[in-house]
Amino acid sequence: MNRLTTSGAGYDLARFPEDPRDPFRAWDAADEYLLRRLEGTDESAPVDLSGAVVVVGDRWGALSTVLAGHRPVQITDSYLAQRATLANLDRNGVDADAVRLLSARDTPPDRIDVLLVRVPKSLALLEDQLHRLAPAVHAGTVVIGTGMVKEIHTSTLKLFERIIGPTRTSLAVKKARLIFCTPDPALARTPSPWPHRYDLPEGVGPVSGRTVTNHAGIFCAERLDIGTRFFLGHLPARSGPDRVVDLGCGNGVVGLSAALANPEATVTFIDESYQAVASAEETFRANAGPDAKADFVVGDGLAQLPPASVDLVLNNPPFHSHQATTDATARNMFHGARAALRQGGELWVVGNRHLGYHTQLRRTFGNCTTVAGDPKFVVLRAVKR
Ligand SMILES: C[S@@+](CC[C@H](N)C(=O)[O-])C[C@H]1O[C@@H](n2cnc3c(N)ncnc32)[C@H](O)[C@@H]1O
Repeated sequence: MNRLTTSGAGYDLARFPEDPRDPFRAWDAADEYLLRRLEGTDESAPVDLSGAVVVVGDRWGALSTVLAGHRPVQITDSYLAQRATLANLDRNGVDADAVRLLSARDTPPDRIDVLLVRVPKSLALLEDQLHRLAPAVHAGTVVIGTGMVKEIHTSTLKLFERIIGPTRTSLAVKKARLIFCTPDPALARTPSPWPHRYDLPEGVGPVSGRTVTNHAGIFCAERLDIGTRFFLGHLPARSGPDRVVDLGCGNGVVGLSAALANPEATVTFIDESYQAVASAEETFRANAGPDAKADFVVGDGLAQLPPASVDLVLNNPPFHSHQATTDATARNMFHGARAALRQGGELWVVGNRHLGYHTQLRRTFGNCTTVAGDPKFVVLRAVKR
């Protein structure tokens, strides 16, 4: 846990799940820059926060916690960000209902007077969110984006220009930048181009040629990932009323493959992204027969499943954010899988060879075999004994 100090107060903040080995703070220079701008600087007056304040994409709830006195609405696609926000509010003695938590899939508020956007890593998610929020923005809405310089591109600014109105940026401070956007009510409203759909290639088992649905911001929303493709070629052949989990399901292509291969299975699709779980559900409903059984869960790994209730976990762990964080996520997923599996149940994992998941699996399960490999990827199997 670290302490964020603003001119008004200090806040104890942590990421979620809190990991004492995690060296990363729950906020960065982009959050600090935005908070300073809201308070007012030598050159600018404080921003009037007395109206409806909406905070989009707050990574770990730092902005929402500091602004809790203004009863903001927080909109995020991340379940972990929501949990971080609740934990941070609690840590600072603020009632949970001070911040209204909405997911990226919920209907946004009707009217927004102050729109604060922490630029997300995914341009697609920003595009979709701005389209959804534009009808609630009026000529007097203060719109301020924030991000690290490396996260803000010409394409980012063009999205604000095209969907909300004229846009300019601030000077960079501590490698962070603000985006100032003036709503133009005369701008023609266009619908969000999301979700995207694409057809899977041939030669990927039961899902060959199927159409998958991808809501904005999810992993590999434009085409099949090459690691996932390798996984689809080496999934276990099983029969009977298995309980299968597609852990970190993205658009659900792995779980769909398991369901099509074994019509008696019940597949639980889990992801921490609301957009991913919605994508998986639409992909499943469009492709699995009416008798196919499935559950759809937004959550942190397998935390919401009862212990010893699952026969098979299929997992392509996340690998994109900070190395330390993603290692921790894979580690948590493997531990969660061990707890959720029945005796004799199996965890199948695909990963880049260099990530060394076999070491972690051997540590967690006491065993690990390589089912398949190519120069880039391995599919690993660990059994709960
Ligand atoms: C590499 S992608 C795999 C997606 C999909 N299974 C595929 O193979 O195309 C990893 C997924 O894990 C999800 N994820 C990350 N952290 C998670 C967590 N703590 N709990 C559940 N899902 C998580 C991400 O949102 C992402 O969709």
